[in-house]
Amino acid sequence: MASASPNPARRAVLITGASSGIGAASARVLVERGFRVWAGVRSADAAARLHELGEHCTPIVLDVTDAAQIAAAATTIASDGGLYGLVNNAGIAVGAPLEAIPLDALREQFEINVFGALAVTQAMLPLLRRTRGRIVMISSVQGRLAAPFVGPYAASKHALEALSDALRAELLPSGVDVAIVEPGAVKTPIWERSAKFGSALGDAMDPELRARYADEIAMMLRVSEKFAARGIAPERVADAIAHALSARKPRTRYVVGFDAKVRVAIGSIVPDRARDRLLRAMLKRIALRPD
Ligand SMILES: NC(=O)c1ccc[n+]([C@@H]2O[C@H](COP(=O)([O-])OP(=O)(O)OC[C@H]3O[C@@H](n4cnc5c(N)ncnc54)[C@H](OP(=O)(O)O)[C@@H]3O)[C@@H](O)[C@H]2O)c1
Repeated sequence: MASASPNPARRAVLITGASSGIGAASARVLVERGFRVWAGVRSADAAARLHELGEHCTPIVLDVTDAAQIAAAATTIASDGGLYGLVNNAGIAVGAPLEAIPLDALREQFEINVFGALAVTQAMLPLLRRTRGRIVMISSVQGRLAAPFVGPYAASKHALEALSDALRAELLPSGVDVAIVEPGAVKTPIWERSAKFGSALGDAMDPELRARYADEIAMMLRVSEKFAARGIAPERVADAIAHALSARKPRTRYVVGFDAKVRVAIGSIVPDRARDRLLRAMLKRIALRPD
């Protein structure tokens, strides 16, 4: 993947998981708003698609679970102008009843969404310290309020939020700031990917567990379809990311989307047991909504 010839006045930002969805939209929006973007991808096809963004976007091979690729990316970026911003966006969404989730699937969820984000952060921090730069963590409203049947994903985002809060305080003397972005449902391929995983998991499940959770698994597949169709545009999340990277006083948290705001409010005012019932009822209602 060839290096661009960047304008040195442009601040450089690395976005992980830039092949699709929020990452791809952010690459486009940040180039438009005057940043130089390093777009982390895992395939030559994804890199080729990003070339349409022009000379200010440089695809870079980056699987966040691959220590050698992370180190190589840090070396490349260091030798080509340094780094002002890091957007830890790469992620997968594993949903399943917790009674039935294979622990290896839970480990993979954490490997990408939590350990991957921290590994990239550790590698890029020496560069970010030099510029007193910014780190943006793409969490989710699930990082504030865990819904049933997406426990693995919600747990990974809660962990990411805890790491982000601790990191922000640890980095206070360095001038490097950390912002957390918490979107609700966004229209991206993650829903279809997650539903595919959920169906495969359902098929492989112990028959007794499958029978016990059959209705809930079917409900969650319907909910995924609805969110995939009705989620907000990824550019709305990209706007929040751009604000976190460029505002003089960025927020520590950006809750993006009406559904996310409602869920955060539910999390803070509704007592636990009532909330359990409410969340189940909300999922059922969304699944039954006509197309
Ligand atoms: N969509 C939503 O409703 C929503 C809501 C809240 C938060 N989020 C968060 O937003 C972020 C982006 O998700 P999205 O909705 O834009 O989904 P997406 O379109 O599926 O994008 C996920 C990105 O992560 C990349 N990725 C997956 N595993 C990776 C790995 N090991 N190393 C590097 N990259 C990897 C994917 O690359 P490949 O194409 O190579 O697989 C892809 O570029 C995630 O952290 C997600 O949790 C999404």
